Amino acid sequence: MASHTCAAAFLWLNLFFILITSSNGKVPAIIVFGDSSVDAGNNNQVPTIARSNFEPYGRDFAGGKPTGRFSNGRIATDFISEKVGLRPTVPAYLDPAYNISDFSVGVTFASAGTGYDNATSDVLGVIPLWKELEYYKEYQGRLRAYLGEEKANDAITNALYVISMGTNDFLENYYTLPETRSQYTVDAYQTFLIGIARNFIINLHSLGARKISLGGLPPMGCMPLERAQNLANDNDCMETYNIVAMSFNGKLYDLVRKLNKEIPGLQLVFSNPYYVLLQIITKPSLYGFEVSQMACCATGMFEMGYACNERNPLTCTNANKFVFWDAFHPTEKTNQIVADHVIKTALYKFL
Ligand SMILES: *[C@@H]1O[C@H](CO)[C@@H](O)[C@H](O)[C@H]1NC(C)=O
Ligand SMILES: *[C@@H]1O[C@H](CO)[C@@H](O)[C@H](O)[C@H]1NC(C)=O
Repeated sequence: MASHTCAAAFLWLNLFFILITSSNGKVPAIIVFGDSSVDAGNNNQVPTIARSNFEPYGRDFAGGKPTGRFSNGRIATDFISEKVGLRPTVPAYLDPAYNISDFSVGVTFASAGTGYDNATSDVLGVIPLWKELEYYKEYQGRLRAYLGEEKANDAITNALYVISMGTNDFLENYYTLPETRSQYTVDAYQTFLIGIARNFIINLHSLGARKISLGGLPPMGCMPLERAQNLANDNDCMETYNIVAMSFNGKLYDLVRKLNKEIPGLQLVFSNPYYVLLQIITKPSLYGFEVSQMACCATGMFEMGYACNERNPLTCTNANKFVFWDAFHPTEKTNQIVADHVIKTALYKFL
């Protein structure tokens, strides 16, 4: 009698564990869309100057390898992948060194220099967002052939999708191209971009995605490149750009709330890097940094991509003391802090 009860209790316990482990969605893969904040080398395969597959990029990456990540080491999505129990790096879909077996647990379709607006990706001839989605569709086909229909569908449904872009739409496009400014007020342009983000998420959902993180803009007026142009204000952050970033983030947040109401089963979260980055930039010593106004590479004011050159004698020796690696992109250490922050404040729901 007693042993029967015991066996039954064991069965129940097992069933209970099976239930919580399967329903409490472990993330089987991380799938990324976006710009240089999350590109791991797709642009190496694209004829564009928006590249970083040369030294000193990647000098703190495994093997000191320049991969095409715009950083001295790993980027935020690499840290997120590791934190959710997957691989320590998320490879680029176009990188010939990886195949579908690698991509089945993590892949990025991101392209440095791109944005929501087609006109943004046109500036440097990089991969537009619609094309990132086409690559994702092709990936689904390859994944089904590799894993089989059932396992592939499970991976597609339970994967964590990360979307990170928008900065280039403003800095590379709106505030650089007179055509865009003559066509839209900044508020109307934001609304235009939000419409594209909305369609993108609806398309992603109809392709099977459920757990989606929509990333907000950083305080883009504090990037060293923008500060370097703010001579009138002592190289302070460009306040206008920060205000635009905040108001765009507000609109992204509204979009997230609305889409979660409209689409049953969608689990969309807003990952906001703005305030943590602003805090790091204004109080770098709290995080162990020494410099936040200038970047590590070269003069730290203008250089990125090919201008961030290995022969520049001014490049810092310890990137961990710097918030920014080049004039537009954070160091690995900053990326890790931001990744930890968005996991704690938004992505924890999926873990
Ligand atoms: C992927 O590449 C690895 C080695 O790099 C190889 O062992 C494996 O068979 C490949 N898998 C597929 C599905 O092509
Ligand atoms: C961007 O370009 C693609 C391909 O030409 C097109 O299908 C899409 O409608 C364009 N997006 C917008 C918002 O115009």
